[in-house]
Amino acid sequence: MAAAILDGKAIAQQIELEIKERVAAFQAKTGRQPGLAAVLVGEDPASQVYVRNKERACGRMGIASFMHRLPADTTAEGLLALVAQLNADPAVSGILVQLPLPNGIDQTLILDAIDPSKDVDCFHPHNVGLVSQGRPRFLPCTPHGVMQILHRSGISAAGKHAVVIGRSEIVGKPMAMMLMQKDSTCGSSAANATVTVCHSRTADMATICRTADILIAAIGKPKFVTADMVKPGAAVIDVGINRTDDGLCGDVDFDSVKEVASAITPVPGGVGPLTIVMLMENTLRAAEWQAE
Ligand code: GUN
Repeated sequence: MAAAILDGKAIAQQIELEIKERVAAFQAKTGRQPGLAAVLVGEDPASQVYVRNKERACGRMGIASFMHRLPADTTAEGLLALVAQLNADPAVSGILVQLPLPNGIDQTLILDAIDPSKDVDCFHPHNVGLVSQGRPRFLPCTPHGVMQILHRSGISAAGKHAVVIGRSEIVGKPMAMMLMQKDSTCGSSAANATVTVCHSRTADMATICRTADILIAAIGKPKFVTADMVKPGAAVIDVGINRTDDGLCGDVDFDSVKEVASAITPVPGGVGPLTIVMLMENTLRAAEWQAE
């Protein structure tokens, strides 16, 4: 039987409605609007699309958007000065520096300079540490989106074997951390899994993937996960967004894997829409804490 298609767009719209209500309540209580500052350095086309989508999402959800577009030859000192200004600005609840930064700018130096209480990407070491200890201040947006898809689709991870393909700081590592947490410490019931992380140096990856009840692909290689790597009845979550000559595609060979899996996310329309709403949620959370 073909897999159920997990509609990330519909789930994101549902969460968006919940956020809109919370933003309205926040404004009624404080007379203030949450605000997200986004910093884009250079002209990377994919980054420009992401940042524009973030601006639009802010507009839909009643969050003020402060856009800072800087030339590609911006220096680290210039960027640090802007981050310091945004850290000090009470109208800015959350700060996002779009990655990748141009060659020559030390990414870690810039991300570590963001005030952890405004770090809505959840990249600062303080916030990564809190997630790993199961007492998060913010949840990283894409892994949180995956947890919401599982949770809201009735897919429990408890006691299941979850295999994460990819060990990036943005997705793979925090994803594994969140799946292994005890109930609800990371924002949803999709937890308590037994987790294996595969990566580019893993031997016999297909055999490991075939033992997964929940398979999460975040490796950045088009159609990497094929049907022979999937256990019949597994839930498959595709985090990949790859631009190919044939257009956008995920890390999963959707057409073959959907015949084996019990549930699967499409690309586009799967995890992508969740990442942006979880960023908006983090911005609202930041504003709520700052108003306390
Ligand atoms: N570039 C690709 N994904 C992300 C993300 O989640 N946050 C930021 N800041 N940049 C990115």
